[in-house]
Amino acid sequence: MKIHIKNQEEIKKIKISSKLASEVLEMISEYMTVNTNLEKINKICHKHIIEKQNAIPACLGYRGYPKSICISINDVVCHGIPNKKQYLKEGDIANVDITILKNGYYGDTSKMFFIGKIKETAKKLCEITKKSLYLTFKKIKPGIPINIIGKTIEQETKKSGFSIVKEYCGHGIGKNFHEEPQILHYYNRYQNTLLQENMVFTIEPMINEGKSYVKLMKDNWTVKTQDKSLSAQYEHTILVTKTGCKILTKRKKEKIPYEFNNI
Ligand code: MF3
Ligand code: CO
Ligand code: CO
Repeated sequence: MKIHIKNQEEIKKIKISSKLASEVLEMISEYMTVNTNLEKINKICHKHIIEKQNAIPACLGYRGYPKSICISINDVVCHGIPNKKQYLKEGDIANVDITILKNGYYGDTSKMFFIGKIKETAKKLCEITKKSLYLTFKKIKPGIPINIIGKTIEQETKKSGFSIVKEYCGHGIGKNFHEEPQILHYYNRYQNTLLQENMVFTIEPMINEGKSYVKLMKDNWTVKTQDKSLSAQYEHTILVTKTGCKILTKRKKEKIPYEFNNI
């Protein structure tokens, strides 16, 4: 129930971890091509995080998760486990989710990659998912209720006919991988806690092309859409500032500001 408001020392460390997480997504981009083996992608990220970044891939061993990153392809909603028998193929849409632990603090981000030429609807799904996340950045500031975030994502998604996954949400982050508050990606009237300066949390909408229902696979991690339709996700770690927010996991090539002024 208690939301931890971060002090300057903590914010400094979360900024470092977040930047490292975003840099892994930049680094791996060139490997996200047809015929790349998924375990190879996991290995490259693992090695980069440990050797180049001197950091810890937070997913590895988290509640028994067996790999260093998540790769979720096509109808996989989230928590896809990279497998050595699996290869990227033409037309795939693939989410890579990276969480870094460094100096005792976490940073968490994910994005979609397009493998070769993808279908128009797949592209549209990814674009709307990304846009729904970006629109929330224009709303965030101290004093607004948390459910404005879900409301914004819902409004943007509704127009498209796509659906929002309800089972997984964004989360406070800092000394813990997942902490209060929960950030729902749909509107909930009871989620009316007010945002405060120096809160840090992720927003990570998962949007399905078809119905919103998901199923957990036998490995107890991989989540798929029930109707086998495509699913997309983008995730950023956000700091609430006095006048808006900062996107701590912003990548260099991403066409959004690092800092939003919403007063
Ligand atoms: N990074 C995911 C999130 O956004 C969590 C992955 S947990 C794992 O919260 F164990 F599957 F890696
Ligand atoms: Co997250
Ligand atoms: Co994540």
